Amino acid sequence: MPSYSGEDIVEVLVSQEDIRRRVAEMGKELSDFYKDTFPLFIGVLKGCTLFMADLVRSMDIPLEMDYMAVASYGGGRRGSGAVRISKDLDSVIEGRDVVLVEGLVDTGMTIGYLLRNLEVRQPRSIRLCAFLDKRVRRIVNVPVAFRGFEIPDRFVVGYGLDFRQIYRNLPYIGVLSDRVTGLKRG
Ligand code: IMP
Ligand code: MG
Repeated sequence: MPSYSGEDIVEVLVSQEDIRRRVAEMGKELSDFYKDTFPLFIGVLKGCTLFMADLVRSMDIPLEMDYMAVASYGGGRRGSGAVRISKDLDSVIEGRDVVLVEGLVDTGMTIGYLLRNLEVRQPRSIRLCAFLDKRVRRIVNVPVAFRGFEIPDRFVVGYGLDFRQIYRNLPYIGVLSDRVTGLKRG
């Protein structure tokens, strides 16, 4: 069992206070943008969970929430890019203003697949809201309408993001030690 003692996290990239401030700003922006439209927020499990919970609590307009889960074939950072929906929506999105909420966009393959899949269902609009954007790694061009932070090409955990399902409950975004990931970077 990895410890949370601090040895695993080599650097805090986004502190709890940075998160709090930025999420409050995003909530305000989204409340203004989607005023009177009764948007449907769709969270991409499981990385979205902490961000989505804070984001909607910083908003003051009526909205709905739903969730999707995806499984990527190959898994991990070196997945084939093929994606499968493992939990679909409960809601019908036709004619709705949809906000797709994601914890982190990396290559863009996962969210690119989801956007294409959801567009077929004819929402009135669909926009991507990503807490973290690792833009330098992008392979599939996905438009991020609402972005928390752009981050460098480091493997990060916390605030919903995991390494092998662990570290999601860290209240900040930390860079995970190569010693834990076993990943050779470069
Ligand atoms: P993409 O399809 O390459 O954009 O991959 C996105 C998914 O890969 C994210 O939703 C994460 O689940 C995972 N991922 C990519 N980079 C990281 C990271 O630095 N930490 C944790 N998960 C990551
Ligand atoms: Mg993960």
